[in-house]
Amino acid sequence: MAAKAAEPIVIKFAHVVADDTPKGKGALLFQKLVRQRLAGQVDVEVYPNSTLVGDADEMQALLDNKVQMLAPSLSKLIEYSPKLEVFDLPFLFDDDAAVARFQKREASRELLRSMAGRGIYGLAYWNNGLKQMTANQPLRNPADAAGLAFRIQPSPVLEAQFAAVDAKAVRLPFAKVYESLKGGVVQGAENPWSNILSQNMHSVQPYITETNHGVLDYMLITNNEFWLSMPFAVRSELEGIILEVTQAVNREAAAVNRRDRDRILASGSSQLITLTPEERQAWREQMLPVWKTYEAEIGADLIRAAMTVNRRR
Ligand code: LMR
Repeated sequence: MAAKAAEPIVIKFAHVVADDTPKGKGALLFQKLVRQRLAGQVDVEVYPNSTLVGDADEMQALLDNKVQMLAPSLSKLIEYSPKLEVFDLPFLFDDDAAVARFQKREASRELLRSMAGRGIYGLAYWNNGLKQMTANQPLRNPADAAGLAFRIQPSPVLEAQFAAVDAKAVRLPFAKVYESLKGGVVQGAENPWSNILSQNMHSVQPYITETNHGVLDYMLITNNEFWLSMPFAVRSELEGIILEVTQAVNREAAAVNRRDRDRILASGSSQLITLTPEERQAWREQMLPVWKTYEAEIGADLIRAAMTVNRRR
């Protein structure tokens, strides 16, 4: 009797955003390359838009091996690795290129390994982009945010950032952001252009201030046990594919965000508020004390390492 062919290893890759975003495209490219190079050995199933698991249950699902890959934003991993708070510090990085340089440094690479003791294995940083503030009223000066409620990801730094401008911060899962903005549970949010467009947030946020005040990037993660259970040759091939996909995601993320910025502005839904350097500096100065509050937890050395990637200053 002919031996039965071994069943392929299944990788369920779940995420919370749409397919046509930097992370969504990355997940699909990963699936495509695995299909080409590991046919019959590995099957990748992609579940976008919180369809399989979402913000509330995805980490437990990964640890229980119900899903094998996620790419949560760095803010959502703080609970497992507090030093990742460095990425949430407001106005720390000048631009996407600076963030990309930091992610290549040893200090950041070490953070990929920082959750090993919790069973989580960091594979790569995937970029989305810098966040913009949106609201149902114009935000030009920090005082304009006072009293408004902003949706945030689960990050104490982001909470402190909005407290610094006398605003309220409300933690909500990504899948609830659109309806919470529409229903008035919150009046504002902070997101990169790609997330604003793909969730149609601009249709319920008449003002967008181009603040570029913080980073929204991801860590591609798996669970230790699953990753180490694979045959070496399969794991090596997957690692090669991940490297290639990571380069593609990080090369194209800025262009996707530029495209989505253009689409939002062309839709006419929202008024764009561009800050003068002095106005931006006012936001920066008001939020800067947050760095000091979190310095002990993050480590002054890590904050310094992040600052050195900026060209100016
Ligand atoms: C958010 O919750 O705003 C983001 O983490 C969503 C995402 O994955 O980009």
